[in-house]
Amino acid sequence: MPTLKWWQTALFYQIYPRSFADGNGDGIGDFAGMIAKLDYLKELGVDALWLSPHFPSPNWDCGYDISDYCGVAPEYGTLQDFKNFLQGAHEHGMRVILDLVLNHTSDEHPWFLESKSSRDNPKADWYVWADTPPNNWQSCFDGEAWTFVPERGQYYYHYFMKQQPDLNWRNPAVKQAMWDAARFWLDMGVDGFRLDAIGTIYEDPNLTPHTVPMSLAELRRFGELAQTPAEVRLKNRYWHEMFKYQHGGPGLHDLMKELRLVLDEYDGDRMLVGEDENIDYMGSGDDELHLVFNFPLMKTDRITPVHVRRNQQQRLAQLDALPVRGWGCNTLGNHDSSRIYTRYGDGVHNPQLARLNAALVLTLRGTPFLYNGEEIGMSDLIITEPEKFRDTMATWYYQAIVQELGVPPTEAALRAGMMSRDKNRTPLQWSNAPNGGFCPPAVSPWLPVNPDYAQGVNVQDQTNNPASMLNYYKRLIQVRRQTPALLAGEYAPLHPQARTYFAFLRYTPQQSVLVILNYSDKPRRLSFDIPGKTIARLLFSSEINKTDESLAGIHLAPFEARIAELG
Ligand code: GLC
Repeated sequence: MPTLKWWQTALFYQIYPRSFADGNGDGIGDFAGMIAKLDYLKELGVDALWLSPHFPSPNWDCGYDISDYCGVAPEYGTLQDFKNFLQGAHEHGMRVILDLVLNHTSDEHPWFLESKSSRDNPKADWYVWADTPPNNWQSCFDGEAWTFVPERGQYYYHYFMKQQPDLNWRNPAVKQAMWDAARFWLDMGVDGFRLDAIGTIYEDPNLTPHTVPMSLAELRRFGELAQTPAEVRLKNRYWHEMFKYQHGGPGLHDLMKELRLVLDEYDGDRMLVGEDENIDYMGSGDDELHLVFNFPLMKTDRITPVHVRRNQQQRLAQLDALPVRGWGCNTLGNHDSSRIYTRYGDGVHNPQLARLNAALVLTLRGTPFLYNGEEIGMSDLIITEPEKFRDTMATWYYQAIVQELGVPPTEAALRAGMMSRDKNRTPLQWSNAPNGGFCPPAVSPWLPVNPDYAQGVNVQDQTNNPASMLNYYKRLIQVRRQTPALLAGEYAPLHPQARTYFAFLRYTPQQSVLVILNYSDKPRRLSFDIPGKTIARLLFSSEINKTDESLAGIHLAPFEARIAELG
């Protein structure tokens, strides 16, 4: 097997700290909870953990509005609790990466409090200020992107909520302060960072106005009501047009190089993964980010063989074209997107499709990222009572369309509940006890628990059931871990015209592995002509009672996922 870095062979698992595990019984996840679940994660087969922000925050954006980059949110524990968690994870053989939010801070961060206090304080230029709004830019979360501050008599820019002012990254002091924060955690031993929303760090220096004839709320509403293909196309074009001047501005490559140098001061192959799909931010392949997410794979309503094949062809060619060959990074879900089980389901075969999609992410070439809860088949829970929304983007949208657009409150609540990210952030379901075992029965969890915990969607029941989703993930993860070609091998699509199944090879000089994912409700008999190979030795199937088969006749069950070593 070629020598790969740990972050190339690792299986990453995203922990959303608020919802993962509640150790002190207050209805909010915390480090005590995470520590108690390290054995669970190890047994699942996870190699590395990505923690969504655990820093102090007023929580306008669930922790992505940070008020102290070197602390721990009191509801999650203390710095010592974090250290214990980190040590525990390392002792379990798992790495830990943190979420580094560079674009903006909380408006309660001392840097912003100082910056907004006057026009001539030492941090006056740490954020992006203007005497009058210089354009019609929108915040992607809550309307106008420029907000007035009476103390300065000026406006500051925010791409996200008004509680998330954008830092001025053209100011070297900002970089210094942020790199110091990164070093604070690197010194403690964290293994790297997931870099939040890097595309939004630099804007168009000409501040070019957008040309979309709608407000943000109108555009969202337009998107909801769009039906014809022409309307859908127009909606997509408007989304792109509205925000295109607010990301991708010049400067990011240099910034990523600078941060990479900070990481490279440390031993142990610390790593950076960017919340961006643009392979350009991997630089030469060895001087900017180690990984960027393959978001185009998940940007679709249905995962189909045609979509995946096209995606792989494009991505892998781009990665191969880098001066130092790049490495892929595949995921289908995170805290910002509808859960895999719901989003890619067809309403009839959701469990089968979820299993196929798990096999997909765990067999494609590249580093896989799972999102907590997908391993037990958690699904979206739509909240329709506005007072229960915790994602303030949904609260804003509800109010905007009721007040500005006159949408009836019941419909507005449903629409806001559907667009809200609360639906995919509900507490992890640990058992069949009240509140899914997340917190004590008498305590209200910070978001409601999906009631399907009582129908077997919980860790405890699934641990004891060999046919469960959880045990399916465990088996798959074990097979991945033990199969060098799946970890390191090249990728070659087979039967490239097939529309209902996706077949491909992963191979090293020593091993060839065939993966077939049958995305159809029909059984199939397939034959493969692979030079020098005649037999497909079973490594894994989603079905029971499957055996080795001749490559001349492989019998697939409906929705079967099959992995076989060729001989
Ligand atoms: C990223 C995060 C998202 C957050 C946003 C602003 O996209 O994943 O949750 O709201 O950045 O920080």
